Amino acid sequence: MKICVPTNMKNIDSYTHVRGESVYLDDIPLLKGTLYAIAFDSPLAHGKIISLDLSEAIAMPGVVRIFTAKDIPGENQIGGIIPDEELLASTHVHFCGMPVALVVAESEEAGRLAVKKININIEPLPVITDPREAQAKGELIVAPRTFQMGDIASAWAQCDQIFEGSTETNGQEHLYIETQGAYAIPMENGAIRIYSSTQGPTAVQRTAASVLHMSMHEIEVDTTRLGGGFGGKEDQASAWAILCALATYHLKKPVKYALHRMEDMRMTGKRHPYSSDFKIGLDKNMKILAYEATFYQNAGAAADLSPAVMERTLFHCTNSYFVPNVKATAYSCRTHLPPNTAFRGFGGPQGMFVIEAAIAKAADALGIPASDIQSANLLRTGDEFPYGQAAESEANECWKKTEELYNINALRREVEDFNNKNKLHKKGLALMPICFGISFTKTRMNQGRSLVHVYTDGSVSVSTGAVEMGQGVNTKILQVVARVFSLDPNRIKIHSTNTYRIANTSPTAASAAADLNGKATEIACLEILNRLKIVAGEELNVPADTIEIKEGKVYTNGQLSILNWDDLVIRTFTRRVSLSEHAHYTPPGIHFDPAKEKGHPFAYHVYGTAIITVTIDCLRGIYEVDSVKVVHDFGTSMNTIVDLGQCEGGIVQGIGWMTMEEIVYDKEGKLRSNALSTYKVPDIYSVPKEITIHALDTKKDNLAVFRSKAVGEPPLMYGIGAYFALRNAVKAFNPTVDLPFDAPMTPEKLLMSLYPPSTKRNKKEQGEFTQAQ
Ligand code: MTE
Ligand code: HPA
Ligand code: MOS
Repeated sequence: MKICVPTNMKNIDSYTHVRGESVYLDDIPLLKGTLYAIAFDSPLAHGKIISLDLSEAIAMPGVVRIFTAKDIPGENQIGGIIPDEELLASTHVHFCGMPVALVVAESEEAGRLAVKKININIEPLPVITDPREAQAKGELIVAPRTFQMGDIASAWAQCDQIFEGSTETNGQEHLYIETQGAYAIPMENGAIRIYSSTQGPTAVQRTAASVLHMSMHEIEVDTTRLGGGFGGKEDQASAWAILCALATYHLKKPVKYALHRMEDMRMTGKRHPYSSDFKIGLDKNMKILAYEATFYQNAGAAADLSPAVMERTLFHCTNSYFVPNVKATAYSCRTHLPPNTAFRGFGGPQGMFVIEAAIAKAADALGIPASDIQSANLLRTGDEFPYGQAAESEANECWKKTEELYNINALRREVEDFNNKNKLHKKGLALMPICFGISFTKTRMNQGRSLVHVYTDGSVSVSTGAVEMGQGVNTKILQVVARVFSLDPNRIKIHSTNTYRIANTSPTAASAAADLNGKATEIACLEILNRLKIVAGEELNVPADTIEIKEGKVYTNGQLSILNWDDLVIRTFTRRVSLSEHAHYTPPGIHFDPAKEKGHPFAYHVYGTAIITVTIDCLRGIYEVDSVKVVHDFGTSMNTIVDLGQCEGGIVQGIGWMTMEEIVYDKEGKLRSNALSTYKVPDIYSVPKEITIHALDTKKDNLAVFRSKAVGEPPLMYGIGAYFALRNAVKAFNPTVDLPFDAPMTPEKLLMSLYPPSTKRNKKEQGEFTQAQ
């Protein structure tokens, strides 16, 4: 098939984005009579509600009504996997920020003033914020799970070296530019339309129906695009949408709620912090013979997606290495923090950090670069993952290409020379290979759908289950249509994600939206194309299989015919042949048996390797990421601009998580890093000075759309390398320091590790240091 769409096509939203014309939730024109909702949330992390006094608040000007748990007609329940999360607290509060009441007012200002007048009396109960403490007290969300391979017990005896340790990785605020929000509108016969900034329109629809005791066919959810989701709106967009719908249900009025940034930061969950233990055993040739890990996931106060996130931690606990003997156990620990949730990588990064820490610890002890161990253990095709799937591995190809393309030996020499010449600045370098499984780990969620209409003027309209959130999925879907129909992209429009047009969607997540919905779109288009060809054959009196449609023209046996796309569409319609198709796609061959913890859960894996170099300032503790040089496995990229954007964005977000973004809850479970003044995210000054990405172009058929590979999440994990590069730089300054594996490596922590109180630096060096000041 001829490609009429360039693989460097710009994101179709770029024109309206730069003009400020793209429509987000807050840009939807409001209907007359629209009311504004705002939640009153718990000031305490755990306690029993003794009394809730709304009298002062309800008397405030402009206040229409205040809703509480008693006003919920159906189930007061929004838990997606486990029903353990109330929409509005009824008798107890389980985290600071848990919604207790909903004020609805004629203006946002009036609502916000009224919220301050609500008086709640809570009898405090003990607060747990630490996952290990929760585990020790038996506070688990689900039963622990263990992935095992080989025979770990006897493997230790064969190891020449064994290392043990612990790690901490902190959470991460999603910081989507568009905060959570929704707008609900009453429709006839009691139905409700909800505009929601959600990755999961069906989740909003399903949960709204059960909370309001309505049928799903009475709830329409519509999503044009999100100003970012990053996993934070996979499950956690539902509460706000349903709160609006609850008010609409009672008041028969349009109701809007767009959270302020501090509300959003306070009330929503984040990436899961993990506390973990590892034990790693190596033979003389640096082969990892045995690896044992225990993960304590800080789930927060309710399950949300934590069990699935925990599962992905186990899936990715050996990163891109083959380890013959593995035992990995994970606990999902219930604490009194806002329920933590999906975040780009979905538990995978947390698992991968631990084995990288284990390798770093071994390398330190053996006095070798970690890369010697990393490279000796990369997965080969046919190697088995601890969950039973055999790898189709590109790990070695990516690693070798990285070493060669970026001249790793020269880079190492540069770092060494620099460190020999400089006392107060040190460089560090680390390699970071990645391996990420593509497919929802819950097999049944791997479904995509697409509805394609060709109108009688020849233009094409497409709806799918995918939600556009900046990742460019609509551009890719448009490319699929343009490619199958060989049609000018300007004649194709991708419409909002709407539960009346596309039913029972999986959330746009697991990096699989373009794969699943793109494939469904391909199937729908091929079906319509087939019908067009049959009609063309009949019109031209030739067999249908001699027909080709290229760039808007119709050919028979390679010869231009009298028909073009527009004529053919009209003739197809005139013959009463359908110009519409709804298609469904599910990747073949995936399965998983949770009883055995074995199966073939992923359609395929994405691989890659990054080299990260950093420079630290040993006086101030500040640092810069000099470069991130990557060889990434894109399969055959469908869109190089979009894919490079995904890589760059993922890398910067990963570096943010590992180096500067520091979520702080105090012992009472109150978020201290509750605004952008106390929570530092990467900005233009802190992004790497250089990001180079080389595509490992593989032509293999891999079950994704047009042999591309999913790209949304995997690059985030290159950011883990920044942590280890910083660590190496610290070691260049202070070789004897015993550095805990405690991410993020903030400038404060880095400074403390350069001059730990316990290390006695020799006089001469101290003299030089004083002089240099
Ligand atoms: N890119 C942008 N710009 N905004 C986002 O919110 N989310 C990420 C990733 N890239 C995100 C993004 C996450 S968490 C996922 S799972 C994928 O996009 C989802 O989209 P895809 O399945 O189309 O890759
Ligand atoms: N990834 C992302 N989101 C998910 C998954 C997954 O594997 N499973 C359920 N939601
Ligand atoms: Mo992404 S964390 O799967 O939304």
